[in-house]
Amino acid sequence: MTVLSVEGLSKTFDMHVLGDTQVVGLDDVSFDVREGEFLAVVGESGSGKSSLLKCLYRTYDPTAGRVRYRGGDGEIDLASCGDRTVMNLRADAIGYAAQFLDEIPRVPAADVVARPLIEGGQPVARARERARELLSALRVPEELWDAYPATFSGGERQRVNLAQALAPKPGLLLLDEPTSALDPETRRAAIDLLDSYLGDSTTVVGVFHNSGVVEAVADRVVVLDDGQVRAVVPAAEYDGGGLG
Ligand SMILES: Nc1ncnc2c1ncn2[C@@H]1O[C@H](COP(=O)(O)OP(=O)(O)OP(=O)(O)O)[C@@H](O)[C@H]1O
Ligand SMILES: [Mg+2]
Repeated sequence: MTVLSVEGLSKTFDMHVLGDTQVVGLDDVSFDVREGEFLAVVGESGSGKSSLLKCLYRTYDPTAGRVRYRGGDGEIDLASCGDRTVMNLRADAIGYAAQFLDEIPRVPAADVVARPLIEGGQPVARARERARELLSALRVPEELWDAYPATFSGGERQRVNLAQALAPKPGLLLLDEPTSALDPETRRAAIDLLDSYLGDSTTVVGVFHNSGVVEAVADRVVVLDDGQVRAVVPAAEYDGGGLG
């Protein structure tokens, strides 16, 4: 079953500071993702990988195109659905780990993790409980749970991001280079947690730079180039960027 159909997705940025020029982030991107599939998104720096995930999570409003998501009940166009629907999906269906943790001043790590749940209407106590459970599983030292991520190391921030993404027990998980700053041992713990956590029906769209990780985890690979889809290939045929 197809869970996600991305159809003609485009994102242009109006750069008012640059005399109203436009920067193209995504240009007419289309692909499908099947239920339970692990789809890797690769491509050079600036090719649009993060913009793609942000459009799927609706951190960015796409300029054009549709994102048909078949979640629990019925089909929703993630590109155009209302903000309330977006909030609800973030609380119980779609998880997102950003490439860089957005600085939210004076919000403790546990609350960063619990935030999508609380904003989607889950009880605060239960959301915090869930946050602590995940921070513990990802080996974030307990004394940091109530501290501000602004002072955290890159790897600690990445684990806060990953915990936030896993918090809603998502059917669709969007990961933007979730393990790039982790040392091998912590990366292994994070990937093990992902493995143990991901059910057969969890669908993942993940951006990865490391082709070893792509080979280890992905079913198919979408290659982006300059905002466009260059190729969609089975992971076994992906040769780590030598596609052109
Ligand atoms: N908020 C924004 N405003 C203006 N331009 C943006 C914005 N976000 C992304 N872009 C531009 O869109 C293009 C794609 O950026 P994006 O961050 O999606 O690339 P990426 O493939 O994730 O790169 P990297 O591997 O370095 O993370 C770049 O030219 C970038 O400058
Ligand atoms: Mg990026």
